[in-house]
Amino acid sequence: RTHISQLFADADQLGGTTVTVAGWVRSVRDMKNFGFVMLNDGSCFKDLQVVMKRDELANYDEIAATGVGSALSVTGTLMLTPERPQPFELQASSICVEGASAPDYPMQKKRQTREFLRTQQHLRSRTNLFRAVFRVRSVAAYAIHSFFQERGFVYVNTPIITTSDAEGAGEMFRVTTLDMENPPRTEDGHVDWSQDFFGRPANLTVSGQLQAENFALSFGDVYTFGPTFRAENSNTRRHAAEFWMVEPEMAFCDLEGDMDCAEAMLKYVINYVMERCPDEMEFFNKFVDKGLVERLTHVATSDFARVSYTDAIKILQEAQEGGHVFEYPVDWGCDLQTEHERFLTEEHFRRPTFVTDYPAAIKAFYMRMNDDGKTVAAADCLVPGIGEIVGGSQREERLDVLERRIAELGMEADQYKYYLDLRRYGGCKHAGFGLGFERLVMYLTGVDNIRDVIPHPRTVGNADF
Ligand code: 4AD
Ligand code: MG
Repeated sequence: RTHISQLFADADQLGGTTVTVAGWVRSVRDMKNFGFVMLNDGSCFKDLQVVMKRDELANYDEIAATGVGSALSVTGTLMLTPERPQPFELQASSICVEGASAPDYPMQKKRQTREFLRTQQHLRSRTNLFRAVFRVRSVAAYAIHSFFQERGFVYVNTPIITTSDAEGAGEMFRVTTLDMENPPRTEDGHVDWSQDFFGRPANLTVSGQLQAENFALSFGDVYTFGPTFRAENSNTRRHAAEFWMVEPEMAFCDLEGDMDCAEAMLKYVINYVMERCPDEMEFFNKFVDKGLVERLTHVATSDFARVSYTDAIKILQEAQEGGHVFEYPVDWGCDLQTEHERFLTEEHFRRPTFVTDYPAAIKAFYMRMNDDGKTVAAADCLVPGIGEIVGGSQREERLDVLERRIAELGMEADQYKYYLDLRRYGGCKHAGFGLGFERLVMYLTGVDNIRDVIPHPRTVGNADF
């Protein structure tokens, strides 16, 4: 079997030869004595046009009546057609129905809403939009590995099941081995969750950062790339309960180095995807987000903005004085809401923007305290259309400061025993960040809902299939 992608790549050499392809029917047109089948095998974005002739095909009527979505294999001669819009077509000598598609196949040729397509998780990957999105997702994942591997980073797999809350935000899903029909109880009659995981409490990880820090202090530069889970009840277009995160961690690196790495990584992935997915990018640019390619090209070739949280608040307040209305109040100390992030990156800086040095009170316990005693060495990267795409920081490497912070926040120091130990045995300045992989795919494709960039989304109320 030849992949259709190979036909497009090597049409000149393959013209006139006999090839066999197999794929799914996109459309059938029966002109009585001849007909056309558009076939896609997933190997590339483009469809192959198959031409069949009644005289030459014993089962012509069967094929002319096959439904959209059917799986076919086709053997025929590749005919070059340089005078027509498609550079070649396959003149079928035999066509075999590998698997017919029932007449109620829900994928119609006309454009269907993304809401409807979300109810068709198992079939939507056969549409142009999702074929394009999920190939870009695959290529972007490869680009991430390529970026870090080229720079000598070690890929570390961090655990999914863990007792520690890496973000200290209590947004964890419990993992349980308890018999829920008959759970162990505490003296006062409540379920004894401390028995959860073979006798210990356990959760799904919210981030691999703490374990990545572990490996950074032996390998220097490392990264994770894996699924993470958040039990936050946020029903928005950019939050999922299960999402993939890329988390590099670098020893002997400060916040500046951290931002440089994030910026270089984003530019690298943009270039990589634009180079390797031209058909998909052209499709997005035409049908999803006009101006996408121009915008990404600009992003890949110009500097990101960098502004402190304190200055960002001033910018937002000035905008407010100038008449801009925000739903949420803007005061020093407030967490930046999506509307604030979008104003900064879309209206003010008009490009990706790092906001640095946030108030300690709204950031995680592990971020390094600045000399002012109020802010931490954090940097979030905000991008137009999405808001926060990367969240990172320099880490608190000073044992006493970290212990104090953990106590202040009322966290259980026990849970962080290993983490604290790393500050005892050769701890050093280090920094890292987390890139939300789905948010990156949204950014690369212009698709504006996280449910449409992950194959089987797990969002509030949705975990089927
Ligand atoms: O800002 P967050 O929570 O940072 C961390 O988890 C750190 N441990 C990262 C690190 O420094 N190693 O998450 C990082 C990124 C966010 O910027 C966002 O892009 C994405 O992960 N993210 C989500 N994506 C989809 N759905 C959610 N519920 C997300 N929560 C965070
Ligand atoms: Mg964050």
